[in-house]
Amino acid sequence: MSQKVWEDLYSEVGTNLTPSPIRELVKYMKKPGMISLAGGNPDPEIFPVKEFQEAAGVISERGKEILQYGGTGGYEPLKDFISQWMAPRMGRVTSPGEMCITTGSQQVMDLFAAVMLDPGDVVVVEEPTYPGATHALKNRKARFITVPCDSEGMKVELLPEILEQARKGRDRVKFIYSIVNFQNPSGYTLSLPRRKKLLEIAESFGTPVFEDDPYGHLRFDGEHEPTIFSMDRSGLVIYACSFSKILAPGTRVAWVTGPEDVISKMVMVKQGSDLCTSVLAQGLVYEYCRLGHMDSFLPRIQEHYKKKRDAMDAAFREFLPSTTTYETPSGGFFYWLALPGVNTRDLFFKAIDRNVSFVTGDSFFPTGGGEEYLRACFSYANADDFPEAAKRLALAINDLGQ
Ligand SMILES: Cc1ncc(COP(=O)(O)O)c(C=O)c1O
Repeated sequence: MSQKVWEDLYSEVGTNLTPSPIRELVKYMKKPGMISLAGGNPDPEIFPVKEFQEAAGVISERGKEILQYGGTGGYEPLKDFISQWMAPRMGRVTSPGEMCITTGSQQVMDLFAAVMLDPGDVVVVEEPTYPGATHALKNRKARFITVPCDSEGMKVELLPEILEQARKGRDRVKFIYSIVNFQNPSGYTLSLPRRKKLLEIAESFGTPVFEDDPYGHLRFDGEHEPTIFSMDRSGLVIYACSFSKILAPGTRVAWVTGPEDVISKMVMVKQGSDLCTSVLAQGLVYEYCRLGHMDSFLPRIQEHYKKKRDAMDAAFREFLPSTTTYETPSGGFFYWLALPGVNTRDLFFKAIDRNVSFVTGDSFFPTGGGEEYLRACFSYANADDFPEAAKRLALAINDLGQ
């Protein structure tokens, strides 16, 4: 009886909620002996536990401040630290009003969507893209137009036509969402010429860009590309980054930088969402940074994940069939494998039988497709297991008769 009452009362979003496709696959991944290349978690072996314990001394020193509610825009000392520390990336020291500390960068999507989207509005996303982003946007009843990617990231040259068509069809395109560095799931990085072009197109159409950059600091090879934010002269870019991958996701501390007006609206939405991000967590993260640990930790994790990337690369090169193709990522956590003629949903169950798992490509295509791809993460699993994982994957491909 009561279930029926609830069902009649759910909103349209509530009625149509579906579990994340990745979470659906998780139950198969818990078999004993499974090597999981599925989870995109950071490696807990490298968490800076000792340094964080040291930072916890701040509770004795500033307990009365950081155990209290805080400002919705964030803990000021942390904001100051981030704007100084990020200045080389952002092109300048941003002002406090241009930044909001958030509860993970996942919350940035939710706040930005609340500020920007009415039901049915369109967001342009990469294909493939991060399902956590499309989930947050779908909660606001967004629709998607996808732009394919190659090894230089989003094919921005397709954007003018796409935006023109949307205009003609009276679709309200509210922003373009791009994961600019070592993209989740593809590992691709948007090249400098494409960053410039994207900005040019955004300016000419008056369409904002949401630059999502949780992996940007995890570069192993080559030079950092400038952020789109740093090149923007029109105030059309909002930039999100997070401590999740460069410190620990359990902190749930991230931030967004953008035009003051937009940020102040996001802060107002946040007031109705969580009042403020845990001040305790922000205080700990601030103290950790103030003690200089962030600067010494970054080279260590870059080295750590580079070794894991190299181990995965060697294993894939040795054991995967030559029909399976991929680009070696220059940073981040992910390999994106193309398996022409293979449906990776079918492959998934063969792989589970062989005790290896991955995430199927279709999970990253919000408008359908992607069956011939899979995402393999090198961040979480033990690198010593990569050769065995690659062998099992090759056997599973063989089992499918491909
Ligand atoms: C591209 C991208 N953006 C945002 C997030 C959210 O990260 P967090 O909320 O931990 O900062 C993730 C998490 O995996 C991600 O891959």
